[in-house]
Amino acid sequence: MAKRTITTEFTEEDAKIEGSLRPQLLVEYIGQQKAKKNLKVYIEAAKKRGEQLDHVLFFGPPGLGKTTLAGIIANEMGVNLKTTAGPAIEKPGDMAAILNNLREGDILFIDEIHRLNRQVEETLYPAMEDFAIDIVIGKGATAKSIRLDLPKFTLVGATTRAGMLTAPLRDRFGVVNRLEFYTVEELKEIILRSAKVLDVAIEAQGAEELARRSRGTPRLANRLLKRVRDFAQVKYDGRITKEVAEYALDLLEVDRLGLDHIDREILLAMIEKFNGRPVGIEAVATTIGEDAGTVEEVYEPYLVQNGLIVRTPRGRMVTDLAYRHLGLFGKKGGGQ
Ligand code: ADE
Repeated sequence: MAKRTITTEFTEEDAKIEGSLRPQLLVEYIGQQKAKKNLKVYIEAAKKRGEQLDHVLFFGPPGLGKTTLAGIIANEMGVNLKTTAGPAIEKPGDMAAILNNLREGDILFIDEIHRLNRQVEETLYPAMEDFAIDIVIGKGATAKSIRLDLPKFTLVGATTRAGMLTAPLRDRFGVVNRLEFYTVEELKEIILRSAKVLDVAIEAQGAEELARRSRGTPRLANRLLKRVRDFAQVKYDGRITKEVAEYALDLLEVDRLGLDHIDREILLAMIEKFNGRPVGIEAVATTIGEDAGTVEEVYEPYLVQNGLIVRTPRGRMVTDLAYRHLGLFGKKGGGQ
């Protein structure tokens, strides 16, 4: 068999930093039990039949393991992984070239797949369904369309915004997995595993403190682990205890629920500028000078999951818990 290659077309800083911490196989992967259980069956079945895996879509907030799972699928199937992202593919010709360079069984991972432009997306439909692309040669009256057969590949798509996918694209994925925030227990396990890989001394309670403040997100857990390690080495004896973790995370302005200063700005804007009344996401985003999509995709899901914000038909509202978390009076007695 030819040597496997892993190529990345876009340079993602995180991919480099976190590469060494990424699990390579399903058995090493912690959390996302449902997705993992299903994938294990589909991978085993595809291998037994000697076929490529059906196209897979992962959706959910950033940092929960979409890219990691794409890599794991490639490793488990023993095939190449080609990685790209929606905005990087500008023309149908670019997509055709990527598809044409795949080998039988390969995984094509497209991150931010909701950001493919219309024409590029349409090139994908016959590619996903019939493993073929239609290429138009020539112009005007002499233009001809020819069908080019492709190797049978697996598309793994990832998006933080499932709602922005068009129905024809969504319907062409045989396997759809929603990734969930991780529990504190799962994050603690991930942190202990990462600490071992990085050769950092850490106590169970130190790992738990980090886990509690990682907003359900392994990517953040691993980043915070590295920062806390720095504090442990410079200010302490190198060992991450609960005390060291608390000290460093307080300095990093990551609070007891894992909220950072932007999360807190969002809650404060909703309380102070809108008096705790229902408000649209765009209004909140404008107030704090952030992009509405970022607030909705990156910040809001965790605030909703933790009961700090509720979505109502009239807009988003802060809860009493948010007031209490910020050390303010409850809604009924407070506000301005
Ligand atoms: N590192 C990052 N995410 C992980 C996961 N889900 N399991 C194990 N290690 C990880």
